[in-house]
Amino acid sequence: MHPLAPERKELDPIEIASRDEIEALQFHRMKRSLKHAFENSPFYRNRFIKHDVHPEDLKSLADIAKFPFTAKQDLRDTYPFGMFAVPQSKLVRIHGSSGTTGKPTVVGYTQADIDHWANLIARSIRAGGGRRGDILHNAYGYGLFTGGLGAHYGAEKLGCTVVPISGGMTERQVTLIDDFKPRIIMVTPSYMLSILDEFRRQGLDPRQSSLEIGIFGAEPWTNAMRQEIEEAFGMHAVDIYGLSEVMGPGVAMECVETKDGLHIWEDHFYPEIIDPATGEVLPDGEIGELVFTTLTKEGLPMVRYRTRDLTRLLPGTARSMRRIEKITGRSDDMIILRGVNVFPTQIEEQILKCCGLAPHFQIELTRSGRMDSMVVHVECTAEMADESARAHSARELAHHIKSVVGVSTRIEIRDPNAIARSEGKAQRVLDNRPKT
Ligand code: DLL
Repeated sequence: MHPLAPERKELDPIEIASRDEIEALQFHRMKRSLKHAFENSPFYRNRFIKHDVHPEDLKSLADIAKFPFTAKQDLRDTYPFGMFAVPQSKLVRIHGSSGTTGKPTVVGYTQADIDHWANLIARSIRAGGGRRGDILHNAYGYGLFTGGLGAHYGAEKLGCTVVPISGGMTERQVTLIDDFKPRIIMVTPSYMLSILDEFRRQGLDPRQSSLEIGIFGAEPWTNAMRQEIEEAFGMHAVDIYGLSEVMGPGVAMECVETKDGLHIWEDHFYPEIIDPATGEVLPDGEIGELVFTTLTKEGLPMVRYRTRDLTRLLPGTARSMRRIEKITGRSDDMIILRGVNVFPTQIEEQILKCCGLAPHFQIELTRSGRMDSMVVHVECTAEMADESARAHSARELAHHIKSVVGVSTRIEIRDPNAIARSEGKAQRVLDNRPKT
């Protein structure tokens, strides 16, 4: 047995139950959840009626395919609380993630939702090799983002000693790791690389650090990066996946003993893979877009939510629940820059606020050293010949993007017509980052 793997008796029985038992539980919960959505959320009631389906039509798990999809746009259209299935007074917390309009996509949780979430994070940390009594350095951002508080409550639930440092102030992160000697770190993989650089800058040997386990997620990362981090710190690096609309971190988690993709916590989330173009359900093993139906959520039940994440479903290994392969891409155009979700339309919106700029733009992603950065190439209008006016517009745009979207960018003002026009959809994003 792997020295860090939990013993079987420590697991929730459902983690290693038979497929029949898991599916029976899923069916029971799915039926209840569809009924709850239909009866308590006018949004779902109208949707189901429009598609001529009723929760009673669910006779098997596969019948979920009869129900309509939901998407991020539905949350935007009903902003802020329009999809919820409980009165606001029953919600104990709100989270959000960035969206196209500068306003976040809002999600809400009842106390039962928060309890399930904490249990699933506790289960996830345990699958990563964490134990009661471990010191856990939580560098996911605290706030509307689900990473910080989501990880926090679950780590406490498992019985860890949490250091709620949140993101930023890298020098201090390293000092506190050196002083408090955490065994576990939870952070985005890209920020872990900055922490690594800071270790070296301070003359500290990362291999001598107390860190044994890193639980990394919120953005795609490769097995090559896993290897680099594991070697640099002499630690285990495992992948955690989730999205705010479905819950937050802890929807799926990799087990330390296998590191072969992420087990979906199928007792709470029913996964499907669809062809993103046609919406048709694909068999396990085929790559497509991941779709989730929540099985226990009260505040915001999600029926066939289209994640836009591309992956495939694989059979269980270390647990009976199915796995997803590491996520590498998305079927839409969302960019994840240093953990912040950015849509090209958000950039467009800010460009349109600056006078003298034309809405012809391209976003270039580059990597220098370890940091991803974004350059926005944007055309000026014909009237803007003057260099100082151009420099002023560039500063103005960078400021708007930083304050509304939340990322730092470099702005390159180009001459009119300098940016290639497309004949169909504009190619907004040029990804010039090296492929790892
Ligand atoms: O990123 C939740 C989270 C926090 C997950 C901390 C893991 C750790 P959102 O901000 O709503 O929620 O962004 C969700 O991020 O649809 C994926 O595209 C991407 N993503 C999240 N985890 C992974 C991962 C949080 N492990 C979106 N690998 C998702 C690849 C990931 N992409």
